[in-house]
Amino acid sequence: MSTNPTGLLELSPVLPVVVIEDAEHAVPVAEALLAGGIRAIELTLRTPVAPAAIERVAKEVPGIVVGAGTVTGERDARLAAEAGAGFLVTPGSTDALLDAVAGTGLPFLPGVATVSEAMLLAERGLTELKFFPAEASGGVGFLRSIAGPLPDLRFCPTGGVTADTAADYLALPNVGCVGGTWLTPKAALAAGDFARVEALARDALRGAVAAG
Ligand code: 3PG
Repeated sequence: MSTNPTGLLELSPVLPVVVIEDAEHAVPVAEALLAGGIRAIELTLRTPVAPAAIERVAKEVPGIVVGAGTVTGERDARLAAEAGAGFLVTPGSTDALLDAVAGTGLPFLPGVATVSEAMLLAERGLTELKFFPAEASGGVGFLRSIAGPLPDLRFCPTGGVTADTAADYLALPNVGCVGGTWLTPKAALAAGDFARVEALARDALRGAVAAG
């Protein structure tokens, strides 16, 4: 198994989690995020068009690194790799899933929600982790509490993070980036309002820089 640190937490302080319903939206959404300063996105494998969307962004928007999210099994990992994903993100971590994502050779962010899960992954050399679902699992307080006992682990909290809470997470020493869907609201995508996406990206990055 390959090990991280992968550098994924350094790609972008804010990692948009993007759900694409219409493959035609993939490139304009990625371009809008890029125009707003975002350099990496997690495109979720939650819709049938997701692999095609990843493929288009990987080919047509070279300024942005597109990863595949919601990778829950070997088939997802394979589809994402074939589509040209630059990295993989899993919501949780089983042995089989970790073997599958590592088998692609791509860098990946494995999901954890508890101290013991985080320690199990650290035993495998995996120290850059997705903390999911962040808000429901204890949020900022949880991460602050484990920074002392687990100083070598760093996280991308995702799940319930908003424009209002992102800076609180980013101010923690064990947070490398934050993820979430708030930059790409379903209504804005359905309306083709990519200017809104760009504005949300710009605001998110401004907040991230202020958080230091
Ligand atoms: C994820 O897959 O990381 C989350 O579903 C994103 O959660 P959010 O919609 O609360 O940002």
